[in-house]
Amino acid sequence: MDGFVQHLGFVLVIALLIIAGMLPSSSSETTRRFEFNVEWKKVTRLCHTKQLLTVNGEYPGPTIAVREGDNVEVKVSNGIAKNTTIHWHGIRQFRTGWADGPAYITQCPIRGGQSYTYKFTVEDQRGTLLWHAHHSWQRASVYGAFIIYPRMPYPFSAPIQTEIPVIFGEWWNADVDAVENEMLMFGKGANSSDGYTINGLPGPLYPCSVKDTFMETVERGKNYLLRIINAALNDELFFAIAKHTLTVVEVDAVYTKPFTTTAIMIAPGQTTTVLLNTNQLPDSTGIFAMAARPYLSSVVPFDNSTTVGFLKYKGASGNFMPPTRLDRLQLYNLPELQDTAFATRFDKKLRSLASSQYPCNVPKKIDKRVITTISLNLQDCPANQTCKGYKGGRFYASMNNFSFVRPQLSMLEAYYHNKTAGVFTSDFPENPPKVFDYAGVDRLTENMNTEFGTKLFRVPHGTYLEIVLQGTNFLHPENHPIHVHGHNFFIVGSGFGNFNVSKDPDKYNLIDPPERNTVGVPMGGWAAIRLKADNPGVWFIHCHLEEHTSWGLAMAFVVENGPLPSQSLLPPPEDLPQC
Ligand code: C2O
Repeated sequence: MDGFVQHLGFVLVIALLIIAGMLPSSSSETTRRFEFNVEWKKVTRLCHTKQLLTVNGEYPGPTIAVREGDNVEVKVSNGIAKNTTIHWHGIRQFRTGWADGPAYITQCPIRGGQSYTYKFTVEDQRGTLLWHAHHSWQRASVYGAFIIYPRMPYPFSAPIQTEIPVIFGEWWNADVDAVENEMLMFGKGANSSDGYTINGLPGPLYPCSVKDTFMETVERGKNYLLRIINAALNDELFFAIAKHTLTVVEVDAVYTKPFTTTAIMIAPGQTTTVLLNTNQLPDSTGIFAMAARPYLSSVVPFDNSTTVGFLKYKGASGNFMPPTRLDRLQLYNLPELQDTAFATRFDKKLRSLASSQYPCNVPKKIDKRVITTISLNLQDCPANQTCKGYKGGRFYASMNNFSFVRPQLSMLEAYYHNKTAGVFTSDFPENPPKVFDYAGVDRLTENMNTEFGTKLFRVPHGTYLEIVLQGTNFLHPENHPIHVHGHNFFIVGSGFGNFNVSKDPDKYNLIDPPERNTVGVPMGGWAAIRLKADNPGVWFIHCHLEEHTSWGLAMAFVVENGPLPSQSLLPPPEDLPQC
């Protein structure tokens, strides 16, 4: 019941927006204000009741819906005894880095009892994004949809019956702070989650969860717009709806060339908007299952369970009891856990729309190329510590063999006030410090120790930048979703094995590469991204698997101010939290 009521609330918000003529399309400036109270709420899932960290007591958190061009103000009040911050994932934050949210990168955390109002403008983006906490592992439950309605009609013609949010998350029976602390204390892998969720609901395959199942009633022969968001912490997911196909029209709030697929692959931090045509002939129950499960190939333990929800065609008379066993469900289209072939095919189909109205502004030439490894590491256990990583070592992760150490102060403030000493250094290596067979190296025998530092690189305003992300085989090859703050980028190339600087750039797609904010770097391979560094500030780049961020798979870059006032970082707001 709980789940059903929650879902109704969700749909109601969207429905109200639609009825209200949506958000009025004014040409004058509109400011939309929201209040977020970060607070504990008693929530029960999987037979476990616990205090869950929420915004306004909602799980998932409230939907933010705005129109392209709007000013947005979100007053975040911290009602808990711990620090927090909120990040508007994928919002460019043009000149407003102060409102980006990652703790100690662009702001000091909001302390218990204090508040901070995030103020920014949503410019030249449209579609589905998400917001989430950006402090420790709080985003395990503190997340929600961020929807940007376009100023112009959708570039696809299908009349939309209604919108259906589909937000994936992960549920831990234990307190996630404890999970994170234990992992950091002993350098071990984090305890995997106990279940995946669709809109906060795990579905019938988990204990005590039949009542916590996402159900959506649809009419036959209509088009629905599914706004799919992966807010899980540590897992890429496959998603499919039995017998139906999905037409992808937008990813990460950028329109794509539409393509039809039986399933999608979606990494943490990514969003995918699809059209669903309800064109199937239902049986007497009117039911079709939808499901998500991880795409993983990991040797460390992971949650390999499946979250299930249902579409119910209106008018069906038969009774339906959700089956509680996977083998009783007809999932048809859902890829298996290790279906790298599907993941690769899916990614290759993504293309920018690249129309005259929505051009693809991929940099054809670059000023600078940074090549960085993205790696897991196994560190020798320091004397007098207990380490529970592989063979008594400690797990870390690194970029160009530097494991990112979070500073005690805000990097953006340090940069702005020109007081960077003791906060960060600007000597992030722009090439791998040691050349080796990155994707071919033996997983367990080579020396995998990393170094530590808070390092970034700097580029002048307007630099056409290419970053090549090179996976390594250390410990185990894995698909890493790398997220860049402050900029969208174009994925101009990717492949398995090692990037070849003399050959691979010739094969780049410089016509209609997908534009995103998070790229899944192929397992045991590389991806090349390009962007125009035109947003002044300090921007975090990290793996959106929270476990890897905790281990240090992160870095940052500075985009300097340009010559014009309109190319400069704005001054910090008065209520910016202090460390
Ligand atoms: Cu969605 Cu730095 O995060």
